[in-house]
Amino acid sequence: MSNLTYLGHSAFLLEGSNFTALFDPFQVMGKLEQEKMKHLDAIFVTHGHGDHFGDTLEIARAYNATVYTNMELANWLAKNGVASVGLQFGVANFGFGKVRVTSAKHSNSFCLDPTYPSGEACGFVLTLDGKKIYHAGDTALTADMQLLQGENLDIACLPIGGYYTMDASDAVRATRLISPKTVVPMHFNTFAQIKQDPAEFVKMVQSSNLQTEVKVLEVGASLCF
Ligand code: NI
Ligand code: MN
Repeated sequence: MSNLTYLGHSAFLLEGSNFTALFDPFQVMGKLEQEKMKHLDAIFVTHGHGDHFGDTLEIARAYNATVYTNMELANWLAKNGVASVGLQFGVANFGFGKVRVTSAKHSNSFCLDPTYPSGEACGFVLTLDGKKIYHAGDTALTADMQLLQGENLDIACLPIGGYYTMDASDAVRATRLISPKTVVPMHFNTFAQIKQDPAEFVKMVQSSNLQTEVKVLEVGASLCF
């Protein structure tokens, strides 16, 4: 069994049988028990905006985790003494599983060094213990998402807050294109601009005749899959 814990905004903790990873760890320090952090292997960072890069530097240093992100940000991290893996759009195989880097329709800049060339924003499909999870990062609805339908995803984490990303109704359209077993909303209610009642998203998914189950995770809540 794998376990996905929501840490607020777009931050998640994924625990497989032998591999533990954080995604976009914004304001995560202090939210996790030390015990879980001790087993942390990796941090996946979709882009350099502050609400996604978040506590990456502190966590990577404190817990000796490797950061998986785009080539440019990975190079910056390596120069600053953090173990990192620079990825490109496409597929890369690692000992723990497979990482597909997906396109995200979003800008990028690096919160810690705004003049640094930060590369492109992305999303990730991580295959771990035979389970597939998609973290979309920040993105608008794109036609590329239909390519993910063939992946038979177990979980898709999609932004629903609008303003900077797709809104709830576009996230329903994305869910239709992707067709995951379960969709989990993220990137809502953290700031005034992204205010969104997740219950509205649930209603929309449920009335759309989709095969997908929708799960809203409270901060700190987990989903076993
Ligand atoms: Ni962003
Ligand atoms: Mn964001």
